[in-house]
This record gives sequence, structure tokens and C-alpha cells, in this order.
Amino acid sequence: MHRLRNKRILLGITGGIAAYKSAELVRALSGAGSQVRVVMTAGAQEFITPLTLQALSANPVHHSLLDPEAEAGMGHIELAKWADYILIAPASANFISRLAAGAADDLLTTLCLASVAPLAIAPAMNQAMWLDPATQANIEKIQRLKAIQIWGPDAGQQACGDVGPGRMIEPLALAQTLAQQFENQSLSGKTVMITAGPTREALDPVRYISNHSSGKMGFALATAAMEAGAHVILIAGPVNLATPDRVDRVNIASAQQMLDAVQQHLPQCDVFIGAAAVADYRAADVATQKIKKHDDDMCIRLVKNPDIIATVAASADKPFTVGFAAETQDVLAYARGKLVKKNLDMIIANDVSNPEIGFNSEDNAIIIIDAASQTPFPRATKYYLAQQIINTISNKL
Ligand code: C5P
Repeated sequence: MHRLRNKRILLGITGGIAAYKSAELVRALSGAGSQVRVVMTAGAQEFITPLTLQALSANPVHHSLLDPEAEAGMGHIELAKWADYILIAPASANFISRLAAGAADDLLTTLCLASVAPLAIAPAMNQAMWLDPATQANIEKIQRLKAIQIWGPDAGQQACGDVGPGRMIEPLALAQTLAQQFENQSLSGKTVMITAGPTREALDPVRYISNHSSGKMGFALATAAMEAGAHVILIAGPVNLATPDRVDRVNIASAQQMLDAVQQHLPQCDVFIGAAAVADYRAADVATQKIKKHDDDMCIRLVKNPDIIATVAASADKPFTVGFAAETQDVLAYARGKLVKKNLDMIIANDVSNPEIGFNSEDNAIIIIDAASQTPFPRATKYYLAQQIINTISNKL
């Protein structure tokens, strides 16, 4: 079920007595960490109120196609693009026939046509309706045309008193089957923590020591890890970048704050990537008032900051730990040295002496190094390289 975390599930509910079970399905999906948006047909609203599903999904329920107010909120095309997966449960005989016909005469059928997200239906109806050749032909047609998954129905006692096939699969089993659909994502079910950007070490209330790190590489890694299905925790220094979609961001300023945030989230993390340019030193004493100028020269005593990645790599339940080595000379030798000294599983070396790549640039050029191998990746966008790094990490896990 952990694979459902952060997934965007569009749950379609159609008119049938099994619609009352959809409330439990919404709870199971939300409980597993999915974002759920419910779309109801007119028939569904005769069996269960939108208010119940709104409360359980913590989102407004969608039901009309041509309602200007609803379209102004999240329009049908936006909703179609939003979904990672569409599940229709229960799917009535009438809905299945409209799906087979390619109808777009209400919001739910329109969404099914407008979305490229995978689609599954959980049929629920009277056993004779299910076994009717018209329904069976519709089922065969939607599987052939659109590779729609059909989950169920179960056989047994029906609400109408009949016995036979037509019961909706139980909500928990539906949620588990849905979770399995996300298995093929390489980091599905994994938590990846990434540090990014510079740290800021205060000297007094208005001054600090920092560096030129833009955070772009770490943010690109967060995006790539999220797209590979991971739950991503991004510990970000002060940078001017938007939070990538579906990434949990924690803002910090100093190295000590970064370490505190990392340690707080460490127990749940499978992979740690230290992409931050952590300041090596901080002021021994931070002045409480603005430092005044007096003499021609002045000294600031600095003390060493904690090494965050080395602390992570020394922890009892060490995650797969990946560091960066930004170097201006002897790139390979220094990077290998850090791999060993900090007890890392992998290190990404990059030459920051070239002003066209590295710090603040959109591009980078890297060498992915582990104990057994080193693989160079020539200049490319940070996002492309982030995808290569994430692929390499998932192959090693
Ligand atoms: O600064 P250095 O070259 O040692 O950085 C190598 C790696 O160690 C990077 O992944 C960086 O994020 C991490 N690091 C850290 N804490 C520090 C210094 C560096 O996590 N105090």
C-alpha cells in the first residue's frame, strides 16, 4: 500500500448499491497517502452523498461537465491531466456501455476520453446484467480498444437477493490492486532525502558566509526521484527555486539546521543524496549586534561544521548514501578519496573550474563513481543528468 503514497487517484463512482462501499475505498486510498479526487455520475448521487466523499477525500467532489463554477476551479481537462490513475468503482452496466461507445455525455465519461492515465473499472451489478451478452461484448470491446483493466466482479450473494457474479471487489482489495499498478516505477515505495543549495552561516544579524550554489542539481534530482515513484524529502538551503511537484520541502539556513532536519527524517529514508554545498566552517561566535568597523583588518574565528553526509553514512541503519564532489582539479582522485573517507555508496564528481557548467548553470557534466566503476556523462542539462543518477541508484538498490 505504501506505493500509493503521493499518487493522484481519480475515483469515478457510478450508480449502484455498491456505491456506499466507495466511501471505504476513499478512506483506504487517503489512508495510504494518495491524493483522491472523486467524480460522481448523476446515478451515484442517488446512492451516496457528495458531502460524504468530500469529507473523506478532503477535496471537492466533481459531478458536472458544464458547470462554469466547477470549470473555474479544476476544469475537466485539468482534472484529466492531474490523474496518475483512474479507477471507476463501482462501474455500472450503463457506465460500461457508455465507456464502450466512447460517450462524452457527462463529466466521468469525458474524463475517461480526455485522460491518458491508465484506467481500471470494478464492475458491480446484478448477475444477469453482468452475464448478459451485451455487457460481455462491451467488456471485451473496452479491453481490446483501450487496454482498460477489469477488476472483478466477485461472485456471491447480491444485494437484490440473487447469487452469482456481479459483486464489487471489496474496497481494501481494490486499493491493494491499485497499489500494485505502481510497482514498475523504479523507486516506488522508497523514500529519498536530498539536501540542496548552499548553507548560510551567520556572522551577525545582517551578515553571513555562504557560497554560489544555486540548488538546481538537487532540485532536478528531487524531480527525477519523484517521477521514479519515490517519496521525496528535499532539505533546501536558501535558494530561489520553486518546489518540485509532490516533493516535501524543508527550508533551512545553516549547516546545523540542515543536520537537524536530516536527522529528523533519516529513520524513514532509503536513499540519501547530499547535493548541498554545505559551508565547511561557521563563525565560532555569532555577534548579537551588527559588527562595527574599527581597524583596517579584522579576524573572525571559524569552527568546523558537522559533516552531514558522513553523519548519515555512519548511522546505524544507513540508507544508500550518495555524495557530490565539486572539484577544480584532480577531480577523480579527490572524489574517490571522499567516497572512501565518508563511507559513501556512490559519489558524483563534477569539475566546477569550467564556468559554463556546475554552480548556477543549467548544465553539468559528471562522473558517477562507486567502489567498482566510474561512468562519465558529458555535458547535459541538470535534469537529464539527474535522471541518469536516479536510474543508476535504483539499479543498485
Ligand atoms: O565539501 P565536500 O567536498 O566534503 O562535500 C562532499 C559531499 O559531502 C557533498 O555531497 C556534500 O553535500 C557533503 N557535505 C556534507 N556536510 C558537510 C560538507 C559536505 O553533507 N559539512
